Amino acid sequence: MFIDTHAHLTFPEYKIDLAEVISRAKHANLEAIINIALDEQALSESLKLAEENPGYIYNAYGLHPQDASTWQESIAHKIRALAKEKKIVAIGETGLDFYYKLSPVEKQAEVFRQFLHLAQELDLPAVIHSRDAARETMRILHEENRGKLKGVFHCFSGDLDLAGEALDLGFLISFTGNITFPKADKIRESAKMIPLDRIMIETDCPFLAPQDYRGKRNEPAYVVNVAEKIAEIRNLSVEEVAMNTAKNARKLFNL
Ligand code: NI
Repeated sequence: MFIDTHAHLTFPEYKIDLAEVISRAKHANLEAIINIALDEQALSESLKLAEENPGYIYNAYGLHPQDASTWQESIAHKIRALAKEKKIVAIGETGLDFYYKLSPVEKQAEVFRQFLHLAQELDLPAVIHSRDAARETMRILHEENRGKLKGVFHCFSGDLDLAGEALDLGFLISFTGNITFPKADKIRESAKMIPLDRIMIETDCPFLAPQDYRGKRNEPAYVVNVAEKIAEIRNLSVEEVAMNTAKNARKLFNL
């Protein structure tokens, strides 16, 4: 019923009990998980995970903007090979993070552009991470769009204006556990207004556990809390939110 469109299952937080984490996701009625691998080690573990859980765990591969300095041309070759074998359903996450700036801003932008080229070349959606960099992210997306760009603004925390611009570009918007935080009125306002056929849900686990589990390790099963909050805001049933967001995810990621 639910699809967690952004999880990091190969993080050390799951070393001990990943099988139980996946089993809890199944019991919570998750029908699929998009796992995001952000380095070579994570990728090889992720590919194994997908093999062990066919039709349930799918992978995306990219570099977090924080790690843009580690870009190598071999990453592009790897992505082309993976796409050919249908072993990834998206490119990312990629984008800009001007909050931490762990990689120089120019390098982040350069690598972001490379990934957007690749996404269009391979007809794959891009998973966009944008933090404190909304204007610049939009500018690059517009400059690199050759009419084939598609994807999702993951962990959306912008305002309605930004949501509108993302929708105009054809992108979807994905909400995470921070939509349940008491101070997240701005995020909830966006979640109320965005058309239901353009919304997805995610955990971004192990980060951003919803309010009920705040400060603890997050996991895919908690995506249900995100759906519940959106249902409450929009006066819909949880089932309606689950079915629509899952349908949007299947379409975007071609599951
Ligand atoms: Ni992430």
